[in-house]
Formats: sequence, structure tokens, C-alpha cells
Amino acid sequence: MKDQRFWDDLYGSREQLFSGNPNGVLVTEVSSLPAGHALDVGCGEGGDVRWLVERGWRVTAVDISQVALDRAAEAVGDDDVRWVRADLGTAPPAAGAYDLVSLQYFPLVRDDGHRALRGLLASVAPGGTLLVGAHDMADLAAHHEGAGHGEGVGHGEEPAREKPDFDLDSIYQPHEIAALLDDDWEIVVHETRARTAPAPEGTQHVRDIVLRARRLR
Ligand SMILES: C[S@@+](CC[C@H](N)C(=O)[O-])C[C@H]1O[C@@H](n2cnc3c(N)ncnc32)[C@H](O)[C@@H]1O
Repeated sequence: MKDQRFWDDLYGSREQLFSGNPNGVLVTEVSSLPAGHALDVGCGEGGDVRWLVERGWRVTAVDISQVALDRAAEAVGDDDVRWVRADLGTAPPAAGAYDLVSLQYFPLVRDDGHRALRGLLASVAPGGTLLVGAHDMADLAAHHEGAGHGEGVGHGEEPAREKPDFDLDSIYQPHEIAALLDDDWEIVVHETRARTAPAPEGTQHVRDIVLRARRLR
């Protein structure tokens, strides 16, 4: 389980951890959606937040790391953004509140009963969109053969660096999230695709798994 201290230390170990560019999955899937209120789940340094705000979205940006939030707020500003420090593994967001709930490379740890995940799903308003972008773990299989299950934090835009051990087996994968969507949902996209950005130096990430679903009621 990675807590605030882990993430604060990780962000604090570099001046900038990620590229500042929006994630390709977000750009591809959200460009055609009308602007509304978005929840950026694990917003990091705010690359996606900035892109959303520039397109007219109001954004609630949540992260467990105060270091990341301070950095993101400085880069993006406060207009149309509510910055919230919270552990989404234990504190679910407001129910039915968001037209878009975006999880980009968000390492949500499995829990019995899927409480945290169900809380995130419930935060999508009727008619709203859930968007999950994740690395395809198949890209890592060869790399980790015989080397256990550790990996870096798993973001597609991260620069090469020393990688902390990260237990991928404890993290929800998109197919598990899709399996929890009931008749109240329509799955619009669930596929593996090539990343729009090249694999960051020192990583094996060449494909994303994308889950986009619309909440019907
Ligand atoms: C791999 S990074 C991705 C950051 C961002 N989505 C992006 O694509 O640039 C994962 C982010 O999730 C945050 N995070 C991890 N666990 C969290 C939790 N339980 N609650 C809230 N944020 C969390 C981390 O601090 C980190 O910023």
C-alpha cells in the first residue's frame, strides 16, 4: 500500500516527475465530449487538469500527495479548479457529482467488497462518463520474467529514473472495473491500443488499455 508519504517522497525526489502533457487516452476520448464538471482521480502534477480547463471543463482534482497538488496548482492556477488532498482508497468522492471521472494510470488498490472502486463509480452522474487509462501489463511480462512483480509507478509520461518497487498484483486492472459495471452502464470502449506517445525512456510501456463507459441512470 503506497501512502501519502510514499508519493510525497517520490514527487519530492525530482523537480518534475511527469511531462506536463495531457495523457493520450484523455485527449482521444474526451475531445468530443461537451465540457462539464470533471473529477481527475490522482491528478499528479496537473497535465490533464490543465488540458481540461483549457477546454472549458470545471475540474475537481484529487491526489493523495500534497507535493503533487502544490506543484499542479502552481502550474495550472485556481480558476475552474478545486484542488483536494484525499486518499481515494478510503474517502470516496461525492456521489453523482461528475460528468467525467478520469482515472489515468491511477493505482487503485483492491479491497474486499470493492468499496473504494464502487465509490468512484458512484461519483459519475447519470449521463456522465467513466474513463480509465492503464498500462497493458502484457508489455511488462517479458521484462519481469523471473524478476517478481515490482514496477515503477506506471505513468506513461514519466521520465527515466530509479523505480520504486510497486506491487502491480494489488491494483485493479480495467477488465476488473468493467466486470463491476451493471445494467446502469454502457461500455463505449474497452480495448488495448498503442500509446499515442512513445514509451518513455527506460520503460516498457507501449500499449494502453482503455475503458470508457457511460452511466445511463
Ligand atoms: C502514476 S501517477 C499518475 C498521475 C496522473 N494521473 C498523470 O497521469 O499524470 C498516480 C497518482 O495517483 C496518486 N495516488 C495514488 N494513490 C492515491 C490514493 N489512494 N488517493 C489519491 N491519490 C492517489 C499519486 O499521488 C499520483 O499522483
